[in-house]
Amino acid sequence: MTSARPLTVLIAAALVAIAQPARGQGTRPVLTTRADGTAYGCLVCHADKRRAFVQGVHSEWGIRCHDCHGGDPVALEVGPAHAGEFVGAPDKLQTVEICSSCHADPDQMRQYGLPADQFAELKTSRHGQLLEAGNRDAPTCSDCHDPHTTLPSSDARSATFPTNIPRTCGRCHSDTEMMEPYGLVIDQLEEFRQSAHGRAIFEDGNFAAPSCIGCHGSHAALPPDVGEIVNVCGRCHIDVRRALASGPHGGTTESGNVLLGCTACHTNHGTESIDSESIAETCARCHEEDDAAVRLGEQIEEGVVRAEREMESAREAISELGITGRRTSDARFRYRHALTEFRQIAEVQHGFDVEQLTDLELKISSITKGIEAAAEVAVEERWEHRLLLIPLWFFALSIAALAYFRLRKA
Ligand code: HEC
Ligand code: HEC
Ligand code: HEC
Ligand code: HEC
Ligand code: HEC
Ligand code: HEC
Ligand code: HEC
Ligand code: HEC
Ligand code: HEC
Repeated sequence: MTSARPLTVLIAAALVAIAQPARGQGTRPVLTTRADGTAYGCLVCHADKRRAFVQGVHSEWGIRCHDCHGGDPVALEVGPAHAGEFVGAPDKLQTVEICSSCHADPDQMRQYGLPADQFAELKTSRHGQLLEAGNRDAPTCSDCHDPHTTLPSSDARSATFPTNIPRTCGRCHSDTEMMEPYGLVIDQLEEFRQSAHGRAIFEDGNFAAPSCIGCHGSHAALPPDVGEIVNVCGRCHIDVRRALASGPHGGTTESGNVLLGCTACHTNHGTESIDSESIAETCARCHEEDDAAVRLGEQIEEGVVRAEREMESAREAISELGITGRRTSDARFRYRHALTEFRQIAEVQHGFDVEQLTDLELKISSITKGIEAAAEVAVEERWEHRLLLIPLWFFALSIAALAYFRLRKA
C-alpha cells in the first residue's frame, strides 16, 4: 500500500505535464513546423532569420513570414514558395501597406489594447507626405521598427525605447547628404545629447524628460509652430507656462505677432536653464540696453542672485553647525523649506512680477537668517566652552607639577 502512493503521485504529475503545453510553446510557437506537423517551408530555407524573428512580439502572437511576405509556406522549392502574392523585400510604400493591414484595423488591434492610428497620424506629417509621394528618404514603418525583431517601446532593445529614439531619428537627421535638399540643419541630435533634457534621459534615466518625440510626436512628427511652443513645453513645465502667460511675454506683440514663447530665451534642442547672472543680458538680446525691459531684467537678476547667496550662506551655516557637533536636523528641515520657496523663484520670475519675487525672497531670507543665527550661537558657545576649559587645564597642570616636585624631593 505504502509504495503505491508515490506511484499514483508520479502518474498524476505526468498526466498534468502532458495536458499542459511544453514550456514556452504557448507563447513561442515552434516556427519550423506547421500546425499539422509538416515543415514550414519559409524557415527551411530562411533558417538564418529565425533567431531574430522569435525574439519579437509578432512571433509570440503566431504571426509568421507569409503573413507579411505572402507566398506559399507549404512549398519547399523557391519557385512555388515565392509564387502568388509574394512580396520579396517590400519597398517603403509596400511596407506601410503590409503593416497597416493589421495596425490600421481597429477591430484587430482592440484586443491588444493598441491604437490603430499610426498610418493615419503619419500621413498628417511631412514624413508621411514625402512617403506617399514615393520619396525614398522618407521614413517608413520599418525605419523606426525592426520588422523582424519587432518590440514594444518599453523594451530597451527597441529602436523606439526612450534612450534609442534620438539615434533612430538622428540616423536621417544627422545625415548631411540626406538633409541638404530639404534645407534642414543636422545639429538636432548633437545639441539634444548635451542639453538638460538629453542629460536627464541619457545620464539620469529620467524618462519624464522629452526625447525627440516628447516635443514632436512620434508618428505625426512635426516642428511645433511659434504659437504652439509654449503649449508643447508647458505640458510638462506647467507652473512656468502659467507664470509666462501672466506676464508681458504671454501673448502677442502690439503689432499682433505671436511672441516666441519659451524659445525666446531657451533653445529648443540645446535646452538649458539660464545662469542667474546673465538674466539681464538675455533681455538685452532683444530689448535696447536703456529700455525699461532691461532695467526690469536687472531687478529680477539682482533678486535671483540675492536669493542664491542666501541659500549658499544657509548651507555654510549648516556645515558650521555640524562642526560644532550640534544636531543639524532642525536646520536641515528649515533649509528644505527655503529650497521649496527658492525653486518657486525660478518659476515665477518668468512672469516678470517683481513684487511676487520680492515676497519669496523675503520668506527665504527670514528662514536662512534663522539658520545662520543658530549657527552663530553654536559657534559662540563653543568658544565659551573652550574658555571655561582654561582654568581646568591650569588646575590639572598645577597638580601635576606639584606632584612631580614632591616626588623629586622625596
Ligand atoms: C527552397 C528554399 C526557399 C523557400 C522554401 C523559401 N525561400 Fe525565400 N528565398 C530563397 C532564396 C534562395 C532567396 C534569395 C534569391 C531570391 O531572391 O530569389 C530568397 C529570398 C527571399 C526574400 C528576399 C527577397 C529579396 O528581394 O531580397 C524573402 C522576403 C523571402 N525569400 C521570403 C520567403 C517566404 C515568406 C517564404 C515562405 C512563404 C520563402 N521565402 C520560402 C529560398 C527560399
Ligand atoms: C511584420 C511583417 C514581417 C514579417 C512577419 C516578416 N517580415 Fe521579412 N521583411 C519585412 C519588411 C517590412 C522587410 C523590408 C526590410 C526593410 O525595410 O528593412 C522585410 C525584409 C525581408 C528580407 C529581405 C531583407 C533582409 O532583411 O534580408 C527577407 C529575406 C525576409 N524579410 C525574410 C523573412 C522571413 C524568413 C520571415 C519569417 C521568419 C519574415 N521575413 C517575416 C516584414 C516582415
Ligand atoms: C498580421 C497582423 C500584423 C502585421 C501584418 C503587423 N503587425 Fe505588428 N503587431 C501585431 C500584433 C498582433 C501585435 C502584438 C500586440 C502586442 O503584443 O502588443 C503587434 C505588435 C507590434 C508592435 C509592438 C506594439 C506594442 O507596443 O506592444 C509594433 C511596434 C508593431 N507591431 C509594428 C509592426 C510593423 C512595423 C509592421 C510592418 C512591418 C507590423 N507590425 C505588421 C499584428 C501585426
Ligand atoms: C519616425 C519613426 C516612426 C515611424 C516612421 C513609425 N513609427 Fe511607430 N512608433 C515610433 C515611436 C517613437 C513609437 C513609440 C511611441 C511612444 O513611446 O509614445 C512608436 C510606436 C508604435 C506602436 C505602438 C503603439 C503606439 O501607437 O504607440 C505601433 C503599433 C507602431 N508604432 C506601429 C507603426 C506602424 C504600423 C508604422 C507605419 C505606418 C509606424 N509605426 C511608423 C516611431 C515610428
Ligand atoms: C528615414 C529617414 C528619417 C527618419 C528615420 C526620421 N526622419 Fe524626420 N525627416 C526626414 C526627411 C527626409 C525630412 C524632410 C521633409 C521635408 O522637409 O520635406 C524630415 C523632416 C522632419 C521634420 C520637419 C518637418 C517639417 O515640416 O519641416 C521633423 C520635425 C522631423 N523630421 C522629426 C523627426 C523625428 C522626431 C524623427 C524620429 C522619431 C524623425 N524625424 C525620423 C527623414 C527622416
Ligand atoms: C524640448 C523640445 C524638443 C525636443 C526634445 C526636440 N525638438 Fe526638434 N524642434 C523643437 C521645436 C520647438 C522646433 C521648431 C523650431 C523653430 O521653428 O524655430 C524643432 C524643430 C525641429 C526640426 C526642424 C528643423 C530645425 O532644426 O528647426 C527637426 C528636423 C527636429 N526638430 C528634429 C528633432 C530631433 C531629431 C530631435 C531629437 C534628437 C528633436 N527634434 C528634439 C522642439 C524639440
Ligand atoms: C515631456 C516633458 C517635457 C517637455 C515637453 C519639455 N520639458 Fe523641459 N524638462 C523636463 C524634465 C523632466 C526636465 C529635467 C528636470 C531635472 O533634471 O531635474 C526638464 C528640464 C528642463 C530645463 C532645465 C531645468 C534645470 O533645472 O536645469 C529647462 C530650461 C527646460 N526643461 C525647458 C524646456 C523647454 C523650453 C521646453 C520646450 C521647448 C521643454 N522644456 C519641454 C520635461 C519636459
Ligand atoms: C524672457 C526669457 C525667458 C522665457 C521667455 C522663458 N524662460 Fe525659462 N528661464 C529664464 C531664466 C532667466 C531662467 C533662470 C532663472 C533662475 O536662475 O532662477 C529660466 C529657467 C527656466 C527653467 C529652470 C527652472 C528651475 O527650476 O531651475 C525652466 C524649466 C524653464 N526656464 C522653462 C521655461 C519654459 C517651459 C518656458 C516657456 C513656457 C520658458 N522657460 C520661457 C528665462 C526665460
Ligand atoms: C527673443 C526676444 C526677447 C527677449 C529675449 C526678451 N523679450 Fe521682452 N519682449 C519681446 C517682444 C517682441 C515684446 C513685445 C513688444 C511689442 O509689444 O511690440 C516684448 C515685450 C516685453 C515687455 C512689455 C513692455 C515692452 O517693452 O514692450 C516687457 C516688460 C519685457 N518684454 C521684458 C523682458 C525681460 C525682463 C526680458 C528678459 C528677462 C525680456 N523681455 C526678454 C522680445 C523679447
